Amino acid sequence: MAEPLKGSVLLVDDDPAVAKVLGALLGQAGLSVHTASRGDEALALLGRKPIDVVVSDVRMPGMSGLELLAEVGRSWPDLPVILLTAHGTVPLAVEAMKAGATDFALKPFDREEILFSIRKALLRAQQPEASRPPVGKDAGSFVGRSSAMSSVQALLARAAAGTATVLLRGESGTGKELAAKAVHDASPRHAGPFVKLHCAALPDTLLESELFGYEKGAFTGAATRKPGRVELAHGGTLFLDEIGDITPQVQVKLLRLLQEREFERLGGTQTLKVDVRFVAATHRDLETLVREGTFREDLFYRLNVVPVWLPPLRARPEDIEPLARHFLDVHARANGRPAFTLTPEGLATLCAQPWPGNVRQLQNFIERLVVLSDGPLLTGDEVRRELERQPGIIPLLPAPALTPVPGGPTAAPGASEGRTLESQRKETERQALVDALKSAGDNRTLAARLLGISRRTLYNKLEEYGLV
Ligand SMILES: Nc1ncnc2c1ncn2[C@@H]1O[C@H](COP(=O)(O)OP(=O)(O)OP(=O)(O)O)[C@@H](O)[C@H]1O
Ligand SMILES: [Mg+2]
Repeated sequence: MAEPLKGSVLLVDDDPAVAKVLGALLGQAGLSVHTASRGDEALALLGRKPIDVVVSDVRMPGMSGLELLAEVGRSWPDLPVILLTAHGTVPLAVEAMKAGATDFALKPFDREEILFSIRKALLRAQQPEASRPPVGKDAGSFVGRSSAMSSVQALLARAAAGTATVLLRGESGTGKELAAKAVHDASPRHAGPFVKLHCAALPDTLLESELFGYEKGAFTGAATRKPGRVELAHGGTLFLDEIGDITPQVQVKLLRLLQEREFERLGGTQTLKVDVRFVAATHRDLETLVREGTFREDLFYRLNVVPVWLPPLRARPEDIEPLARHFLDVHARANGRPAFTLTPEGLATLCAQPWPGNVRQLQNFIERLVVLSDGPLLTGDEVRRELERQPGIIPLLPAPALTPVPGGPTAAPGASEGRTLESQRKETERQALVDALKSAGDNRTLAARLLGISRRTLYNKLEEYGLV
């Protein structure tokens, strides 16, 4: 079993039976447990006790779990909150994640699952956001030996030396954020700030206020002046993630910022100048958006000064092995587990999967293996068992080694003619999505979880296959 967990948990639930059972479970896992039966009681306790993670029910009399989440976010922005929602109230879980919950667990909860969520939350909380690498210590550097990734790295290194805007393209989970950080770290401004802004899913005014900041009284609720991310990134790098999702209104303002390096805060009249290097990323097909008229062509050219394409994992299968070994090592250490060894068949099974969620999906999968396997040997059976536990994923058997027929043709034409590997892969992937949605009762958060991919990746895939 994994090492005992260290930390203190605040458990908030109005049902004394849940508090008792779950409290005992968390206590057994090594955590020190505090309980509260109401939201206001929880807030008072947070003011008095050093709590590392909050686990709260959603439906409670008085303050709901979502209201508690918002309150905690205001006073203790770094404190992770995991919400418990009953089966059948899954839309609430979706809302919870949108509102900033660290994770959610469905009641009746699974012991391993809830401990897994808490373990992750505790690990993340130990490191402040700014200094937190995505994985492990050496996460800034890319793992991979494919020639495609070597070219990407060479390109990033060249781009880092200058100040030209870099546009990172590629499917979800391919490493765009890692690449953005790599550009900053290798650049002469590496000692300056690296500031990130996620541009999707924020309404215009909120995005603008995040980007440019605001003056006191700019809108209701603007009680003080607040600097935006552009100002915070002065002397460093501003990473604009999901740039393909911004509206024409914000596009105009961004164009001016990129052209002139100047802007005004919301509600302000003073023009401010900044020294910022921009890196942008998107999984969207910007050329099509430009053709359709939803993305400004002039902005596209301003962004696309150094275009870098991150290839999907299926296009560089030789990277799966080094990545898998790297993540095994990182997650075994992070979870206090002994070193794991992949058998050749275990490895071949991993390499045979299409990994539609790319490196992120592989990483999540390995993390699950590390936490849930007895170890230390990871056999083909063990890998397949874990793949099967994720309904919607149909484990693919490793391809048998080909024995060339002397003098014969290298590939036999016939049954598979016209069905390229790519079209077969897509078919399998589409089916996996359909199955996962079915198993999840059409709930996308749950479906993403079943597939071991992020919700964003799921949405992208659903769009790609016309399943929305
Ligand atoms: N070559 C790599 N070596 C090591 N880790 C990697 C590599 N590529 C990606 N990762 C890891 O995979 C995860 C996903 O990468 P990242 O967040 O950079 O993807 P992304 O392209 O920004 O995805 P999305 O579009 O979904 O935001 C991260 O934890 C990242 O550290
Ligand atoms: Mg990203």
